[in-house]
Amino acid sequence: MKKFILFTLLVIIAIGSQSFSPTAPQASLKKGQAVYETYCISCHMEDGNGVPSAFPSLVKTGNLTDKNRLVKIVLQGVRGPIVVKGEKYDAEMASITITDQEVADVINYIRNTWGNKAPLMNVSEVALAKKAVVKGYQPY
Ligand code: HEC
Repeated sequence: MKKFILFTLLVIIAIGSQSFSPTAPQASLKKGQAVYETYCISCHMEDGNGVPSAFPSLVKTGNLTDKNRLVKIVLQGVRGPIVVKGEKYDAEMASITITDQEVADVINYIRNTWGNKAPLMNVSEVALAKKAVVKGYQPY
C-alpha cells in the first residue's frame, strides 16, 4: 500500500511538473511584454525597430547576446557610441526603475520576439548581472 501511495505521488508530481513547465516561460514573456509596453515601447517601438538614427532597433541586431549588459542597460541606463545594424548611435538611455523580476521578463521578451531567439533568464541571474563587470559598458 505504501508503495502504491508513493507511486501515485510520483505520477502526480511528474504530471504536475510537465503541465507547469511549458507555461512558465510563456508567463515570463507575457509579463515582459507588459513591461515593454509600459517602459520601452515609446522609443524602441511596438515592432522593436526603434527609430533609425534616434532609437536603436532591438530586432536581430546581434547586440542582445550579453544578458549582463542588458540588465545594466535597463537598470543603470547606457550612453556612448554603439553600432546597431551599421548605424552609429551616440546618445543616452536613462535608467529605468523596475523590479529584478520585471527586468528578467522584459529581457526575455525582447530576446524572444520579432524573430529574436535566446535562452530565458531568471531573477537570480539579474542579481548576479548587477555585480558583473561588462566590457565597454558606460552607465548613464
Ligand atoms: C527615452 C527613450 C528610450 C526608452 C524609454 C528606452 N530606451 Fe533603450 N535605448 C535608447 C537609446 C537612445 C539607446 C542608445 C544609447 C546609446 O547611444 O548609447 C538605447 C539602447 C538600448 C539598448 C542597447 C541596444 C544595442 O544594440 O546595444 C537596449 C538593449 C535597450 N535600449 C533596451 C531597452 C529596454 C528593454 C527598455 C525598456 C525597459 C528601453 N530600452 C527603454 C532609448 C530608450
